[in-house]
Amino acid sequence: MKKPGKLTLANLPTPLQRLPRLSAQLGVNLLLKRDDLTGAALSGNKVRKLEYSFAEAERQGANVILTTGGVQSNHCRATAIVARQRGLEVGLLLRTADGKAPGSLDGNYLLNALIGADLRHITPAQYGDRNALLEAWAREHSEAGRRPYVIPEGASNALGSLGYVDMALELAAQLGEAPWAGEHIDLIAHACGSGGTAAGLAVGRAQAQLDCAHHVYVVCDDAPTFQARIDGIIAEMVERFAEDGEPLHAPFEVIDEYKGIGYALSTPEELSFIAEIARLEGIFLDPVYTGKALFGLVKDVQAGRIEQGSTVLFVHTGGIFGLFPARDLLAAATIRP
Ligand SMILES: Cc1ncc(COP(=O)(O)O)c(C=O)c1O
Repeated sequence: MKKPGKLTLANLPTPLQRLPRLSAQLGVNLLLKRDDLTGAALSGNKVRKLEYSFAEAERQGANVILTTGGVQSNHCRATAIVARQRGLEVGLLLRTADGKAPGSLDGNYLLNALIGADLRHITPAQYGDRNALLEAWAREHSEAGRRPYVIPEGASNALGSLGYVDMALELAAQLGEAPWAGEHIDLIAHACGSGGTAAGLAVGRAQAQLDCAHHVYVVCDDAPTFQARIDGIIAEMVERFAEDGEPLHAPFEVIDEYKGIGYALSTPEELSFIAEIARLEGIFLDPVYTGKALFGLVKDVQAGRIEQGSTVLFVHTGGIFGLFPARDLLAAATIRP
């Protein structure tokens, strides 16, 4: 692929590890790709994408970065942190239930406030016009003599998604070396919220010749919506970055059965599952993305949709700060007498 230059922001390669006790319970060989360990405060899947987004922003001479997401968006928090690490200003357009600032500083929002991001709050209805609102905000900055650069929701455009093409290549290299040489992955699975991770991995698996199934567990909307979104990102990636004759992308399956009661809303069963995995394996999932996706994967194994004895790689895409705003619900669902 003709990939543009990128910054080095993430601690790579992220480790691969086994989940021995969950594997024994389920009858599959479960591996974890620890993309929650791309950094500490700057952690999770967004860091890989932002390596490309910020490189382009800096090539264009930007001095203000603008992006958008939900009030507890991991992407917005990661963008704010990278901006400060690069000495740039940052503005976040955040969706809240009533379009007002939340009453307390918590989770990702606390980190955004500490870092001094310029925060604007919008309603869910206004969020439908987020791209136009970001462009209008960028115009305000331009008129004031600054040089804005807009990163879309989740950095899930063709450029940002290249971060997950690189992840597929990184994984293929890990599987070719000790201690993983000879391990064959039958299925890769991960959470999906804006489609970039899925699109990048679909293209990257073709590039890296990773011959396996690919389950994309969506946490909102529905499968047809995300299929169209991911297909759109892939088409743009191919148009912008593919060389003649390159394999385009490997197939993937979008699954919307486990999004539960809505985006960033959790059932007691999902929250108990998060606690169960923490107790069993010492791994923290998050309530919005990874908790739902791994929960879905486990249900699919239990329902016989994933063959016993197969090797399944779950990509842990991060999100730990999302646990803190959910503390009361987690306590109610999980604390044992
Ligand atoms: C922790 C976490 N996991 C998964 C995702 C989904 O990734 P994508 O937006 O690339 O679909 C996100 C963001 O949306 C996230 O913050």
